[in-house]
Amino acid sequence: MTGKVYLVGAGPGDSKLITLRALELIEKADVVLYDRLVSKKIISMIPKTAKKVYVGRAVGDDTTHQKGTNDLMVEYAKSNKHVVRLKGGDPIIFGRGGEEAEFLKDHKVKYEIVPGITSGIGSATYAGIPLTHRKYSSSVVFVTGHEDPEKKQEIVKDAKYVSTMTEERKKQIVKSVMFKLRVIRKKEAINSQLSCFINF
Ligand SMILES: C[S@@+](CC[C@H](N)C(=O)[O-])C[C@H]1O[C@@H](n2cnc3c(N)ncnc32)[C@H](O)[C@@H]1O
Repeated sequence: MTGKVYLVGAGPGDSKLITLRALELIEKADVVLYDRLVSKKIISMIPKTAKKVYVGRAVGDDTTHQKGTNDLMVEYAKSNKHVVRLKGGDPIIFGRGGEEAEFLKDHKVKYEIVPGITSGIGSATYAGIPLTHRKYSSSVVFVTGHEDPEKKQEIVKDAKYVSTMTEERKKQIVKSVMFKLRVIRKKEAINSQLSCFINF
């Protein structure tokens, strides 16, 4: 089998923030499977010779959809295609990229992971907010607003009950995360300077 899947990060939205490696792979692709968060401008950069397949999943979609995407990656790779699985931000920060890599490995498909600028960092930096600063913040935490409901040990208390992320619910999650961080800080004696990015 000569096919291979590239799990590629498209960056946080602005097409100029995609990496040269990502562009190089997109230009050589036979198939591009892309997500909801990949910007239109980046999609327009996919060559006409490549097959474009939208595999976007809205928040809350069940796992059937993910299974379809996983199967497509394997199917194309096994027919010797150069497959780009294009994901918003960084491919393995949230968004199930790690699970996709595991699936490929289990199905003996060659793959490579190409980092992208994650929105958590990109948005803060674009807004001029230093997530670390020698005086004010010595560490950063990324927290999801949507944990796997089957997970036994929750990080974000009550997050599994979230269906529509209302402003009130967001406030509750922030409160719960801040509480946990205080506990962690006390336990681990982590420096009290901490930035926190929550992915809603
Ligand atoms: C499933 S996560 C994917 C994160 C992505 N892998 C990353 O590294 O940025 C989806 C969440 O990321 C954020 N996000 C990422 N890229 C975005 C974009 N271009 N526009 C709006 N929100 C974005 C939103 O908070 C959204 O709910």
